[in-house]
Amino acid sequence: MHIEEHKSLKDYNTFNIQATARYFCSIGSIEDLKLALQSNIHPDIFILGGGSNMLLTKNIEALVLHINLKGINIISEDKNSVILNVMAGENWHEFVQYCMNNDYGGVENLSLIPGNVGTAPIQNIGAYGVELKDVFLDCNTLSIENQFEKKFTKEECKFAYRNSVFKDQIKGKYIITSVNFKLTKNDHKKIIDYGSIRDELKKNNSHSPSIKEISEAVINIRESKLPNPKNIGNSGSFFKNPTINNIQFEKFNKKFPKAPFYKLSEFEFKIPAGWLIEKSGFKGQRFGDAGVHKNQALVLVNYGNASGKEILELAEKIQTKVKKDFNILIEPEVNIV
Ligand code: EPU
Repeated sequence: MHIEEHKSLKDYNTFNIQATARYFCSIGSIEDLKLALQSNIHPDIFILGGGSNMLLTKNIEALVLHINLKGINIISEDKNSVILNVMAGENWHEFVQYCMNNDYGGVENLSLIPGNVGTAPIQNIGAYGVELKDVFLDCNTLSIENQFEKKFTKEECKFAYRNSVFKDQIKGKYIITSVNFKLTKNDHKKIIDYGSIRDELKKNNSHSPSIKEISEAVINIRESKLPNPKNIGNSGSFFKNPTINNIQFEKFNKKFPKAPFYKLSEFEFKIPAGWLIEKSGFKGQRFGDAGVHKNQALVLVNYGNASGKEILELAEKIQTKVKKDFNILIEPEVNIV
């Protein structure tokens, strides 16, 4: 176990924010993880996965454990499906590519999402009509308090839109060490109704696309709309799409009849935050090195040397203006540290 001090985290968060960890340890085995948790190096522990869903606004005064557990193993399989155990430190998109190369279906719509497998359940990552929960079987965790291993079933995870028990009731109490997925080997359930996927597939004349072709279509769409964190620091959607009730919606719809919306039920409507932010005038705007992406207003970007505080100030400015213009509160999806 190698402990580093005052370690720069710039390469460990996709926003490329400069902040340091008081103590830092890269974890390559469950034994090391237990040892690190039992050590008295610092009373506080901070768990770092792919760093793709957080905004660092200060240095981290804690022992930062970078979860670097690797490995993909087949647990069982039959003619129609396979159960895979994937260690938490595996990169999410590399896992998707492994599945595409083996013709395992279910995660193709989730191609190119930044981050690691172990953090994907925390916010129930989702895109193009699919969420992590659709392929999730269960996950293995370690309790930070007593280092006991505990399995969480799908029900216990309480998955919801960009949310789970790990982000809510038991936040900061367990470390996900691996995830078990159930994927299809044939008769793949292809979800291509999402408008932009169908249009992208049409371009290639794919009427009955393979899961690999769906994955490629998603990659093309994401690359055209979303900035690559390797080139411009960002954390994907910064805000969640807000839900409003039917009374609020009626007023909103009357005033802005052209606004897109998804009807969740008789009483609940979801409004795309990207539309609200664009109409508030922020799309493509830049304030120093902090900005709002030119192709997708939901994504805040770091053009180089923005601090976490500057990004947060921009986010608050957007929140205030959207509230003033539409009387709707948009809330961050990203964890503010
Ligand atoms: N829109 C605008 N202006 C914008 C962005 C969007 O008017 O700048 C409008 C679009 O025209 C469309 C609607 O908003 O009518 C929805 O846009 P889109 O289909 O691009 O999806 P989204 O709601 O902006 C969500 C997820 C994305 C995911 C896409 C595709 C959230 C917070 N975001 O975005 O997830 O890739 O759907 O499924 O739910 C992420 O979580 O990091 C992420 C990128």
